[in-house]
Amino acid sequence: MAVRIAHRRSNRPQAGRARGRIDPARFHAPARSNTISATSVSCDPGLSQPTWSFDALPTYGPGASLADPLPALAPRQGALPATYREASAEELAARIRTAKATLGDRVVILGHFYQRDDIVEHADFLGDSFQLANAALTVQDAEAIVFCGVHFMAETADVLARPEQAVILPNLAAGCSMADMANIDDVEAAWEQILAAVADSPGDGRQPIIPVTYMNSAANLKAFCGRNGGIVCTSSNAAAVLQWAFERGQRVLFFPDQHLGRNTARAMGVPDEAMPMWNPALPLGGNSPQALADARVILWHGFCSVHRRFTVEQIARARAEYPGVRVIVHPECPAPVVDAADESGSTDYILKAVQGAKEPTTFAIGTEINMVSRLAAQHPEHTIFCLDPVVCPCSTMYRIHPGYLAWVLEELVAGRVVNRITVGDDASADARLALERMLAAVPSATPPGGKA
Ligand code: 13P
Ligand code: SF4
Repeated sequence: MAVRIAHRRSNRPQAGRARGRIDPARFHAPARSNTISATSVSCDPGLSQPTWSFDALPTYGPGASLADPLPALAPRQGALPATYREASAEELAARIRTAKATLGDRVVILGHFYQRDDIVEHADFLGDSFQLANAALTVQDAEAIVFCGVHFMAETADVLARPEQAVILPNLAAGCSMADMANIDDVEAAWEQILAAVADSPGDGRQPIIPVTYMNSAANLKAFCGRNGGIVCTSSNAAAVLQWAFERGQRVLFFPDQHLGRNTARAMGVPDEAMPMWNPALPLGGNSPQALADARVILWHGFCSVHRRFTVEQIARARAEYPGVRVIVHPECPAPVVDAADESGSTDYILKAVQGAKEPTTFAIGTEINMVSRLAAQHPEHTIFCLDPVVCPCSTMYRIHPGYLAWVLEELVAGRVVNRITVGDDASADARLALERMLAAVPSATPPGGKA
C-alpha cells in the first residue's frame, strides 16, 4: 500500500533544483509554478497557459495525449470560480493548507506519482495506481477521499471505499486517453465475436477466454471482468495476474494497453505470433478465426500517449552520451523500447530502483516527466534524466491544478461535496469482485511506497 506521508515542508527538495549534475540542454524540469515554464522545451505551447483555459474544450488539453480523440461522453469540468483562477501559487498553497487543517481527519488526499509537485506537497498518500487503490481501502474513517490522479483511479477508490465516503476528483476533465480507448460496447462486441470464433476449438477444462483489464480502464470494464471470471491488473502486478488468468483460461483478452499486455506476456514466454491485436473498428478485430483460436493473449489496440513517446533512438543517444547509464522504462512503452532498456517496471519499481542504488548512478528514465524530475531533485547523488528531452506531461494528470484542489477542499469546509465520482451499485459490485481477485492474487506484490 501507499505510505502516509509525514510532511516536512522546510527541507523538501523541489523539482528542477537538483545540483548541476544534469546537462540542462538535455533536461528541462517543469517549473514549480502554476504552469510549465514557457521557456521549457515542451511538446505543446498550451502548457504555458493555465489549466482552466482548456476545461470547456473537447480535447484532453495540452500534453502527451493532445492528439488523441476525446470520447463524446467524457466528463467536462465546469468553470472554476475566479477567486481560484486569479490566486497566486503561494495563495493557493496557503488556502489548501488551511482547508486541510480545518477538515482534519475528515478528508484524505491521495496523489499519484505523476502529479505535479504543487499537488504532491499536499498529498497524505503518494503512490502508483495499485498502492493508491490499497490506500483507499485503509482510510475507512475519512468522510471524503480527494483523489489527485485521473478518473479511473477515482472510480476504483469509490468501488473500494465505504458507500458513505465521497470520492472527489478535483477536475472532472482529468480522464485518461488510454482508458478511453476501450469502452464497454466495443469490449462486449469483441467478447461475443471471440467466443464464437473459438467455439469449435478443443477445450482443456479451462475457460475458453479470460478477460483481464488494466487498472487504467472505466469501472464498467472492471465490472465486465468481474461478471465474466476475469480480473484487474496494474503495471506492478501484471505478471502475477496473467499467471492467474492462464491457470484458468486457454486465452486472455487483455485491454486496453497493448504494450503492457505484450511486454508482460513476452517476459512469460508467450511468442508474438500468439498475441494478435484486436482493433475494435474491424470485423473480428482484424483477425482470422484461426488466429484467435491459436491466440494466448488477444491484445486490445490501446496505448499510453505518454509512454509511446519513448524510442530506441533516445536510448541509443543516452548510452552514447552517458556511458554506463542505467536505462529503466515503464512497461507501457513499446516492446522494442523495453528490449533496448536495461530494466522495465512500474512507477514504484522505478522509484525503488533509484532509492536502492548504492553508488552514484546515471539513470535515464522512460516515464512521466513530473515523476522523473521529482526523482532528480530528491536524489542529487545520482544523475537522473528523462529519456525524452522534450517536456511532455500526461495531459490529464496535468489537469489537477492547485486551483481545483483548493476549490474542492474549501467547498468541503462549507459543507458541499463537488465533483463526486460514483460508480452505480451494479457495476460497483462486479468491479469490486474483479479488484478483489487481483488483491487476493497479489496481496503483497507491491511493498509499501513512499514519497517520490
Ligand atoms: P502505475 O501507476 O501502475 O505505475 O501506472 C502508470 C500510469 O500510467 C498511471 O496512469
Ligand atoms: Fe493514462 Fe498514460 Fe496518463 Fe497514465 S500516463 S493517466 S496511462 S495517459
